[in-house]
Amino acid sequence: MDFLPEALENYIALHTSAEPELLRKLNRETHASVLMPQMLSGHVQGRFLKMLAAMINPVQMLEIGTFTGYSCLCFAEGMKEEATVHTIDINEERSSLVSRYIKEAGAGRKIKTYTGDALTIIPVIHEVFDMVFIDADKKNYLNYYNLVFNKVRKGGYIIADNVLWSGKVVEKIMKKDEETEAIKEFNDFITKDSRVENVLVPMRDGIMIVRKLI
Ligand SMILES: C[S@@+](CC[C@H](N)C(=O)[O-])C[C@H]1O[C@@H](n2cnc3c(N)ncnc32)[C@H](O)[C@@H]1O
Repeated sequence: MDFLPEALENYIALHTSAEPELLRKLNRETHASVLMPQMLSGHVQGRFLKMLAAMINPVQMLEIGTFTGYSCLCFAEGMKEEATVHTIDINEERSSLVSRYIKEAGAGRKIKTYTGDALTIIPVIHEVFDMVFIDADKKNYLNYYNLVFNKVRKGGYIIADNVLWSGKVVEKIMKKDEETEAIKEFNDFITKDSRVENVLVPMRDGIMIVRKLI
């Protein structure tokens, strides 16, 4: 997932605010005890997500794909006291780890967790969102976008992770590579969608930032 030479990646990390101690601990524990730890946002992207939350200043935010809670803790850190981040994950086994870190961070009031399939949970969260972060199964990115679109206020943001998909978006697609197909379809759809403006930021594996115009 590192597209830049290691020396530049190190330079970027050294010139970004330090990873808070609790997140460093969660990062380590995820790498030591959870499958596919590379799914966690990590130091620089985590600071970027916190910065986005501080800039956009959402009151209601939705995250699709909690994993071990790293990114939702970053969002919560950037959001004001009365704000809420609703975060959904289909995996039940990690929920006690997520709850433990939310408690340790003192973010229990700000973060509301949901366990189950986001496609069925999103329709029953009756909120108007200022910001949505899509970071779950790639084949449903466009479904998530369509599902949340009318729940996001005019001027609100929909942000999606991994839109460069390790560079596969510009490579010849192998047969049955449904994830790359889905990410490409998502990126193409957004870029042609006249209801929004968007920028693909080359942060780590690519972050699409979409702003609703209507
Ligand atoms: C890339 S990880 C999320 C990483 C996390 N946002 C972070 O930055 O630390 C993707 C997560 O999406 C979850 N997921 C996959 N399919 C899902 C679905 N249909 N509904 C909800 N969550 C899903 C997986 O269980 C996994 O934890």
